[in-house]
Amino acid sequence: MGETIEQKRERVRQIASEHYKRGDVTGWFEALYKEAEGDNEYIPWADLEPNRYFRQWAESKHLKGEGRTALVVGCGLGDDAAYLDDLGFRVTAFDISPTAIEWAKRLNAGRNIDFETADLFEPFRGWLGAFEFVLEIYTIQPLPIEMRERTIEAIASFVKPGGRLVVVTRGREDDDEVDELPWPVSRRELARFTAGGLIETELVVMPSEEEGEPFRFVAEYLRPAVS
Ligand SMILES: C[S@@+](CC[C@H](N)C(=O)[O-])C[C@H]1O[C@@H](n2cnc3c(N)ncnc32)[C@H](O)[C@@H]1O
Repeated sequence: MGETIEQKRERVRQIASEHYKRGDVTGWFEALYKEAEGDNEYIPWADLEPNRYFRQWAESKHLKGEGRTALVVGCGLGDDAAYLDDLGFRVTAFDISPTAIEWAKRLNAGRNIDFETADLFEPFRGWLGAFEFVLEIYTIQPLPIEMRERTIEAIASFVKPGGRLVVVTRGREDDDEVDELPWPVSRRELARFTAGGLIETELVVMPSEEEGEPFRFVAEYLRPAVS
């Protein structure tokens, strides 16, 4: 093993680019999880820990589930789903990669989390407007920038009236150029979350804890309750 994070990301870019050339922008996730053969060291984002920026935000808010329903978008190996389970949410978590979902189920075998293989762009109809808490971490940034609006609208669609959405993403300034995968998200792009009726309640900028990495946005949105 012993590959550096940059070598792992390079392999990710290689697999992604092979798929893009065939016009397939999401197939590389499954290919990568499969190639890893159960070794999370090959998955750059899979550290088997809840996301540190989300945890910091959640601790600062004393976030508690209290039996509320939560949906984790692009859940990968399920570390953030497990964290929400610990906080007392009733958790559903999905990913487009069946291999990731089988892996997440194995890692979280003792937990009452509903892990599903599903495509963000073709979700179960019953999920639309159905969740009191939606968590999105790092699914926007590896999808092509041309899909950004569509991706954001799809994520926003799961939030129930009165419910909240939290987004954690690599950030960039509005006028910064983007070069290679993963493509950070700008404030202007995040504003798309409010187009479908969500209200931005918080936008926190957190410095990266790793050298040379972009800052993170942690954004919170509310879908007003219907009166
Ligand atoms: C960069 S990873 C982040 C995984 C996890 N959220 C984390 O932070 O560890 C992006 C995840 O989104 C999933 N994904 C990408 N496109 C998706 C789609 N259209 N529907 C559902 N999941 C998707 C990928 O399979 C991958 O697990």
